[in-house]
Amino acid sequence: MTEELLDGGERLGREELAALQLERLRATLRHAYENVDFHRRSFEAAGVTPEDCRTLADLARFPFTAKSDLRDHYPFGMFAVEQSGIRRIHASSGTTGRPTVVGYTDGDLEVWADVMARSLRAAGVRPGHKVHVAYGYGLFTGGLGAHYGAERLGCTVIPASGGMTARQVRLILDFRPEVIMVTPSYMLTLLDEFERQGVDPRSTSLKVGLFGAEPWTEEMRAEIEERFAIDAVDIYGLSEVMGPGVAQECVETKDGLHVWEDHFYPEVVDPFTGEVLPDGEEGELVFTSLTKEAMPVIRYRTRDLTRLLPGTARVFRRMEKVTGRSDDMIVLRGVNLFPTQIEEIVLRTPAVAPHFQLRLTREGRLDALTVRAEARPDATAGQRAEAARAVAAAVKDGIGVSVGVEVVDPGTLERSVGKIRRIVDLRESA
Ligand code: DLL
Repeated sequence: MTEELLDGGERLGREELAALQLERLRATLRHAYENVDFHRRSFEAAGVTPEDCRTLADLARFPFTAKSDLRDHYPFGMFAVEQSGIRRIHASSGTTGRPTVVGYTDGDLEVWADVMARSLRAAGVRPGHKVHVAYGYGLFTGGLGAHYGAERLGCTVIPASGGMTARQVRLILDFRPEVIMVTPSYMLTLLDEFERQGVDPRSTSLKVGLFGAEPWTEEMRAEIEERFAIDAVDIYGLSEVMGPGVAQECVETKDGLHVWEDHFYPEVVDPFTGEVLPDGEEGELVFTSLTKEAMPVIRYRTRDLTRLLPGTARVFRRMEKVTGRSDDMIVLRGVNLFPTQIEEIVLRTPAVAPHFQLRLTREGRLDALTVRAEARPDATAGQRAEAARAVAAAVKDGIGVSVGVEVVDPGTLERSVGKIRRIVDLRESA
């Protein structure tokens, strides 16, 4: 990456970065303490004041914030500025209970557009490129986050949003974007639609995709890159911390995601004890915002599992591709299992397509898991039976647990239009 393509933050040296982080961290702790009752009370309960943070390591003395804390202060209880200073609101749907509401000042929206523009640049996107945004627009941060970042970089935005798949394909063929931003699972839905319309997906104008909002594997990257003849890079973010553009994989290295550490300070902690783990060790990712005004977050527990690694293409540290959320972990007869582990196996099995679902049932007093995977259209009955055996054997050998495997007809499983739901839990009704 040539120097002139980097912004000011990306040109900092490690020491300058650390000094900037400490200054911003102290200001954030003070802002949260002075303006949000929840933070003041939780600092007091932990016996700390913002002045106790003298080094970056001191952050470990401060209390965590959990998703439930945000829900408990629904809708605006975590805001640190007057309502008239809040320019926009987003919310994450949340599968149960109240949604989590987040707010942005003018300044926050500026920073968000800047870090998203930085993400796009790291992905190889340049001013003048056309960007097809198929992340949903609305309370979800994906669509609007991507949108303003692409405009900030000087791109032409096509705000397609999610859904209406046949029309998406038409727009891509007619408008000829170089870039697509979409969940990896919806990219597979688009793939089906290209094929249904008799268009070779490798022949489109697309050159690069920024895929995120859900976990996906190296195997899925290989599948998408091969089927579309594009570069596929990972983009990470969460609404509580900002939205998309918290961390981004660089197209030249594709080796995990550089965390935009000048705005979002990462820690990885032991999910059970909360103890900070050294870089390189896997645990739960925790973020403290460094520049947010409307809703500063202090040690927000993401529940995403990863590890921190040194920077490569950028000075910032990287986070490894997220293997899963602690919420999505299935415990099957004492064995922990993530949907991404099944994704790796399904995608390595030639006769099955990258469409699969995990069905949890209860047999007597034991939980059982059935992997439902779709056959590739050209697979014979023999190949399908062999694939079912191969997937079951790979799960048994690789993960250490027995699962049922059903290879179903092409097109049978529900397709994603945004974030895919891999796990179908039928245990309640069993
Ligand atoms: O999903 C923001 C986003 C939009 C990121 C578009 C990337 C692209 P939420 O709806 O709040 O925000 O969900 C955040 O999604 O804690 C992770 O569990 C998961 N997630 C997001 N990006 C990735 C990724 C958006 N690249 C939650 N890999 C996070 C794995 C991801 N999981």
